[in-house]
Order: sequence, then C-alpha cells, then structure tokens
Amino acid sequence: MASFYNNRFLVVFLLVVILVSSCKNEEKVEVQPKKETVEYEIYRPSEMANFMNAMYAYNVQLKQQIIKGETPVVMSLDLMKMHSAEMSNGHGRTPVWNSFVNVFIEAQQSVADTLSNVELKARYNDAINNCLACHKTECTGPIPKIKKLLIQ
Ligand code: HEC
Repeated sequence: MASFYNNRFLVVFLLVVILVSSCKNEEKVEVQPKKETVEYEIYRPSEMANFMNAMYAYNVQLKQQIIKGETPVVMSLDLMKMHSAEMSNGHGRTPVWNSFVNVFIEAQQSVADTLSNVELKARYNDAINNCLACHKTECTGPIPKIKKLLIQ
C-alpha cells in the first residue's frame, strides 16, 4: 500500500513538474509580444519628426494667410528645437545639416518679420526652399509634400 501511494505521489509529482515546465515554455512564448513593442517603439515618431510636422502645419497656415492677403505677425515655433530635438535612428546633425540649419531658421523667422523690405511671398517661399535644400540630402521622403507648400 505504502509503495502504491509513493508511486501515485511520484506520478502527481511528475505531472506537476511537467505542468510547471510547460508554464515556463509559455513564459518563453510571452517574450515575443515584448519584441513587438520594441519594434513599435522604432516606428514611434522622434521628437524631431514631431517638430518637423509642427513646422509643416505652421507653414500650411502661413500659406493660407498669405494667399488671403493677410500679414503673419506671430512666429509660434520654438526653432531652437532644431538644435536640441532628438532625431530618429539613421538621422543626425551631419555637416550638411549644420550647413543648412541656421540659414533655414533665419529664413523661417523672417516670414513674420513685419519690418522686412522683402516681399512677403518671396520670404515665405525662401523659407520653404530652405526646408527643401536640407531635405534633398537629409530626408528625401517628405519632399513632394513640402513642395506643395510653395506659393506659385
Ligand atoms: C536642416 C535640415 C532640415 C530642415 C531645414 C528641415 N528639415 Fe524636415 N527633416 C529633416 C530631417 C533630418 C528629418 C528626419 C527627422 C527624424 O526622423 O528624426 C526631417 C523630417 C521631416 C518630416 C517628416 C516627419 C515625420 O513624420 O517623419 C517632415 C514632414 C518635414 N521634415 C518637413 C519639413 C518642413 C516643412 C521644413 C521647413 C519648414 C523642414 N522639414 C525643414 C531635416 C530638415
């Protein structure tokens, strides 16, 4: 009798071991969704990408104002973010970036400069052409979208 109970105990014990180890296997499977979240993080827009989109939206608004004959007086962007914002993988402050960034900042600021002698539309298109100048080498994807900002 005692040996029968011992055997049953052994069988139960083995079952428990198998169950526990299969749980461990499931835990290993659970690692995969974590990998997916890491991939998701790669596609999350960088601080710079968000700022670029904000600049795009701001210039859409400027274009509409200028076409309506209004004079933009407020520059609502913090253009110093061009120097500080984190960029996504594969992008960085290359020598080309550095050669374009300050010229662009000045051009973008001058659009809302009410004391400027240069025609408003020319100042605006100059700012957009500076977006394009940097994008030609640093990030070619959005070029068609940025070109549509130009006022013909
Ligand atoms: C000095 C270089 C430079 C200038 C100037 C510049 N960009 Fe960019 N732009 C970049 C780089 C580099 C990226 C990629 C940033 C990243 O992914 O972190 C980018 C990304 C973008 C994106 C894509 C954002 C996304 O969702 O991935 C848009 C749209 C954009 N820029 C529009 C503009 C507009 C509009 C202007 C002008 C008002 C402008 N850019 C000026 C270099 C520049």
